Amino acid sequence: MKKVTKAVFPVAGLGTRFLPATKAIPKEMLPIIDRPLIEYAVEEVVNAGINEIIFITSHTKRAIEDHFDQNFELEEKLLNAGKKEYLEKINRDIFSNVKFTYVRQKTQNGLGDAILHSEHLIQEEAFAIILADDLIINNPSCISQLIEIHEENECSVIGVNEVPENEMEKYGVISIDEPSSTNNSYVLKDIVEKPKSNAPSNLAVVGRYVLSSKIFKYLKNLEPSVGGEVQLTDAIKLMLNDEKVIGYLYEGTKFDCGSRHGYVNAIKHLAKEILDD
Ligand code: G1P
Repeated sequence: MKKVTKAVFPVAGLGTRFLPATKAIPKEMLPIIDRPLIEYAVEEVVNAGINEIIFITSHTKRAIEDHFDQNFELEEKLLNAGKKEYLEKINRDIFSNVKFTYVRQKTQNGLGDAILHSEHLIQEEAFAIILADDLIINNPSCISQLIEIHEENECSVIGVNEVPENEMEKYGVISIDEPSSTNNSYVLKDIVEKPKSNAPSNLAVVGRYVLSSKIFKYLKNLEPSVGGEVQLTDAIKLMLNDEKVIGYLYEGTKFDCGSRHGYVNAIKHLAKEILDD
């Protein structure tokens, strides 16, 4: 089985929940202490062995491209000023062999549509999808845990966590057979996007997926559904007719940095590490 070496990052979203901060800055570039949010997720996948990153982006997100590019002028100035320690910060060794590719999503038609924009860059191989708003802290990382389950079972794997009933309508929710769990792995019976009531379980989808490239077959011709958008969840649901998909209850602490509450908590968590140091 081919190793997972590619990750798709949908980053074209407008970040309306963080206006006015995100009027001129992509929400993915908001700092968590001294690093932009997106860098945490990129580091997570690179440390998991991924060396090709595909951003599904838009014209308002150029700063992301600049962030992962070289800035020769700044490098030269730092070098001349003898500030070598900063050079490593802006030009990290771990990213030196990573290939970054940018694909423009011209209209925001939803997560499913964003992922479909990466089809021409993915061959017949499983690939990761990362929603960078979800900052997940653990070692081994969430995506490493999912890749391991994928390799063991040779099927698609979705990260899930337990969520209280009144919050289920914010997430994709999986339906499973009872009794279900072996080693935190749940075979999906069904999956539903943002159920308003009667959620089929308390297991909500987080922004980490390892999916078979067959997902593209199901993403094509999908009609918009919840929120008027083309939903990745709907394609996963169709894929269940032909293939096994596992929901994996990963270990780690998740911060939803797409919300003010989660963003502040992420900073608080990492700030504590610095203050205790
Ligand atoms: C997306 C997915 C949803 C998933 C969530 C995780 O929703 O559609 O299934 O639970 O990410 O963050 P969004 O947050 O983009 O509305």
